[in-house]
Amino acid sequence: AQSAKESLYIVSQYAAAFFVKQLWETDEGRGIGLSYFKERGFREDILKKFDVGYSPDVWDAMTQSAINAGHKLEFLEATGLSIKNDNGKIYDRFRGRVMFPIHNFTGRIIGFGGRTLKTDKNVPKYVNSPESEIYHKSNVLYGLFHAKKAIRDLDNCYLAEGYADVLSVHQAGIENVVASSGTSLTVEQIKLIGRFTQNITILFDGDAAGIKASLRGLDMILEEGLNVKIVSFPDGHDPDSYMHHVGAGAFKTYLEENRKDFILYKANVLLKDAGNDPIKRAGIIRDIVESIAKIPDQIKASVFIRECSSLLEIDEHILLGELNKMRSAKL
Ligand code: UTP
Ligand code: MN
Ligand code: MN
Ligand code: MN
Ligand code: MN
Repeated sequence: AQSAKESLYIVSQYAAAFFVKQLWETDEGRGIGLSYFKERGFREDILKKFDVGYSPDVWDAMTQSAINAGHKLEFLEATGLSIKNDNGKIYDRFRGRVMFPIHNFTGRIIGFGGRTLKTDKNVPKYVNSPESEIYHKSNVLYGLFHAKKAIRDLDNCYLAEGYADVLSVHQAGIENVVASSGTSLTVEQIKLIGRFTQNITILFDGDAAGIKASLRGLDMILEEGLNVKIVSFPDGHDPDSYMHHVGAGAFKTYLEENRKDFILYKANVLLKDAGNDPIKRAGIIRDIVESIAKIPDQIKASVFIRECSSLLEIDEHILLGELNKMRSAKL
């Protein structure tokens, strides 16, 4: 007999194939799901590569199909794909949504993100699979299975926020991209990237939430001893919308020309609000040195201190003094 865990992989694979079939082979799937993807500018080969699908807008279509195919409700419930309500009625978690299956890094399907097609603000934009015996969100990066070879070959990993971002960056011909998707970036996710490269380039959304998350993310990456760069996008754009806005070629060029190291990025973001106020500027300089103090490698840290010194026109020795104070405070 197979293990319970194996059974969860099998029902997840069944559901993924069901959603794919719905998208490509049913009137509802093609008319609603596929045309949605097409309107957003996704190419068919990208949709197929990532096994995206469509969940029909009925109560329990997936569950019934799985049961009829001989799968056990127990396992469908354990993945969160099927839910039993208080009256004992079974329904599908994902209904009337376009489906993004989440692969682990060996390529097995472990969960799903489902995007609504409604513009109603009361409907959550994404519904995600819950944690299960095969899906531990904090240890998973969306897209890693499709990206890991390119990450190794190119010795860099682009890190985005969402499912659509990963697909669109691939569509631009860039395969070394993953997303934290459905959780804020975790230390485990950074360590996972660290198995393939020491270099991460953050591509978060160009809104207030994305900028805040990128500042948090870069500190976490530095603390893990990895190198971090950041590409920011014009306000209101994320990598997905920007790629479709400017086209694949210009998008690639944009990534190459707008890659900033964390000091320059942080200085740009923070100085925007500070203007020439000397007190605020001093606070920002401390804030940047605080990030540098997270770097475990002292030699690397001293290189960044020098850069910070020339960029912000502060004496290097003063910055080094601050750095050492922060380091000894941490010990
Ligand atoms: P965003 O709100 O930036 O969505 O959330 P998006 O990826 O740009 O989606 P599109 O382009 O509108 O389709 C970034 C990521 O955060 C998670 C999803 O993983 C999403 O891709 N998220 C967002 C959720 O899990 N639930 C939500 O309700 C919203
Ligand atoms: Mn695949
Ligand atoms: Mn966002
Ligand atoms: Mn986004
Ligand atoms: Mn988006």
